[in-house]
Amino acid sequence: MDVLEAIRARRSIRKYRKEPVPEEMLKKILEAGRWAPSANNSQPWNFIVLRDEKLRKEIAEVTTYGKFLADAPLGIAVVVDPRASTHPVADGAIATQNMLLAAHALGLGACWIGSYGSVYEDRVKEMLKIPKEKRLLSIISLGFPAEAKERGRKGLEEIVFTDAYGK
Ligand SMILES: Cc1cc2nc3c(=O)[nH]c(=O)nc-3n(C[C@H](O)[C@H](O)[C@H](O)COP(=O)(O)O)c2cc1C
Repeated sequence: MDVLEAIRARRSIRKYRKEPVPEEMLKKILEAGRWAPSANNSQPWNFIVLRDEKLRKEIAEVTTYGKFLADAPLGIAVVVDPRASTHPVADGAIATQNMLLAAHALGLGACWIGSYGSVYEDRVKEMLKIPKEKRLLSIISLGFPAEAKERGRKGLEEIVFTDAYGK
């Protein structure tokens, strides 16, 4: 799939079919995360594949807007090390987006569950045995889509200026 088409057509998918995500697809998604840019190529990330259904359900339960993780056949937690990069949040975010785009390009549905700085970040870190000094940037829910979504965006005329803010 063309990258511009993938960017345009990707939507957050929160309902999934039951069948498992094939290992080759998971590998491609993780590869897409691995090849994300990062400040000074610091690659301050780890990706935890959430294979255990009970664990996914327990995590879903403590999140605020991620309850659908309970019914996703797979998840990926994105962990960043703030000591390893000058821009750990941006690095983890772009790795997350790369994986969302890869999932979409492969015909899967995925959704970003915001975790960094959330009220449940520490609880989920404990559940996943993430070291204290590291941060949970996001959780991605993943599976074959069982819904189609449309979501709009502001028009370019609303968000683009020329040469100075507001111009
Ligand atoms: C940083 C961030 C955190 C998000 N957290 C959640 C979340 O906790 N739960 C959820 O259902 N969607 C979450 N989303 C998905 C957004 O709601 C979604 O991207 C937005 O509404 C636009 O819809 P679209 O992705 O379908 O285009 C998050 C997205 C981002 C970028």
